[in-house]
Amino acid sequence: MHHFNYIDNELFCENVPVNTIAKKIGTPFYLYSHATLTRHFSIFEQAFEGVDRLVCFSGKANSSLAILKIFADLGGGLDIVSGGELFRGLKAGFTPQKIVYSGVGKRIDEIDAALSNGILMFNVESLEELELIDQRAKESGTTASVALRVNPNVDPKTHPYISTGLRKNKFGIDMETALEGYRAASRLQHIRMIGIDCHIGSQITEARPFQDALDSLKELVHQLQHMDIHIRYLDMGGGLGITYDDEKPPLPSEYARAIVESMGDLPLTLILEPGRVIVGNAGILVTRVLYRKPGPDKEFIIVDAGMNDLMRPTLYSAYHAIKPVELSGGATIRADVVGPICESGDFLALDRELADVVKGDLLAVMSAGAYGFVMSSNYCSRLRVPEIMAMGDTFEVIRTRQTYDDLIAGESVPEFLKEER
Ligand code: LLP
Repeated sequence: MHHFNYIDNELFCENVPVNTIAKKIGTPFYLYSHATLTRHFSIFEQAFEGVDRLVCFSGKANSSLAILKIFADLGGGLDIVSGGELFRGLKAGFTPQKIVYSGVGKRIDEIDAALSNGILMFNVESLEELELIDQRAKESGTTASVALRVNPNVDPKTHPYISTGLRKNKFGIDMETALEGYRAASRLQHIRMIGIDCHIGSQITEARPFQDALDSLKELVHQLQHMDIHIRYLDMGGGLGITYDDEKPPLPSEYARAIVESMGDLPLTLILEPGRVIVGNAGILVTRVLYRKPGPDKEFIIVDAGMNDLMRPTLYSAYHAIKPVELSGGATIRADVVGPICESGDFLALDRELADVVKGDLLAVMSAGAYGFVMSSNYCSRLRVPEIMAMGDTFEVIRTRQTYDDLIAGESVPEFLKEER
């Protein structure tokens, strides 16, 4: 459920007409509903009621400060993958003790920053990383709390680019090496092994792969218990899918039931790292039709948002519903919805049946709250678009549109190019 609905044939975000925002801000822009963000986080969190748990929102899905602040204020934790996300998370008000740090390639400066801020735990993805964290913790006179990210070798049945839990993927440590890692860690003086972690992929639309992963993890936990290694946290990562088109992913309650049932009586605190399921359907990208171009084979709707603003269709052939901001009649057309960038891959939808829009009309690209703005770029020197949040009948800009000065901020022409010829 989300808060983007038609009232009298006009698309609203909560109680604000999308058209009103477009008139004031210009297009394109991302628009988020505060009520949806809050609702999704709370529903997900409450689905695990009765279980000792910490829901760490996955900042990579959307790391705008205003959005992070909502989850920090709701008592949530944060899953980060870079020093930049740590910086954002702290600015947004997350307590470091609720931050977990994942990722295959943590740099020394990033490890040091996480150590000096006292985060809850590092999800470590290789034995070399484990040794480096031990060294850095020694250097700074602390002990690092660590979980090993294991690769349970299960097929999440999702797009290959966002599948991470198979042996052939670069993520995590295979089961046998993980055992060796826990054994090695017990000899490292500045490492405290407190958890076990996995993340098998994203946009997963069945509960089974999560249960299969958990079964493997449980086996490992039992082996650790026999080795007298007792951990406290079980981090199941993120990955629960959403409905973009006609997918029917488990509801958070069904997902929670599956995990809690599989967990059985393991006396561990559960950590979850949801991203997409919280923010995906809480945001849209609003764009304006620049031109209609009928071609010999097909028709093109050329809009002012492109692949640099929303990469998902181009990168993953991802489907995003496209709706008119004003409904008029019922006539539809079949067309490609394309951006202004000079690449054939610059599209938001291909061969799509959509409303019979004309030049100047507004379109809403739905389900764009996750991996939308965060993956946008300045390609073709296009300005990154603003982000707006609506709450009830008000709205505020939470990130301004870039200016041409922003575009060249930090650039300089070297002295040797300035010399007169
Ligand atoms: N935890 C870890 C360690 C992750 O790598 C990810 C996502 C998550 C949690 C959150 O997963 P979610 O709940 O959002 O599925 N750009 C792609 C998605 C990449 C996901 C990367 N990892 C897309 O637009 O579909």
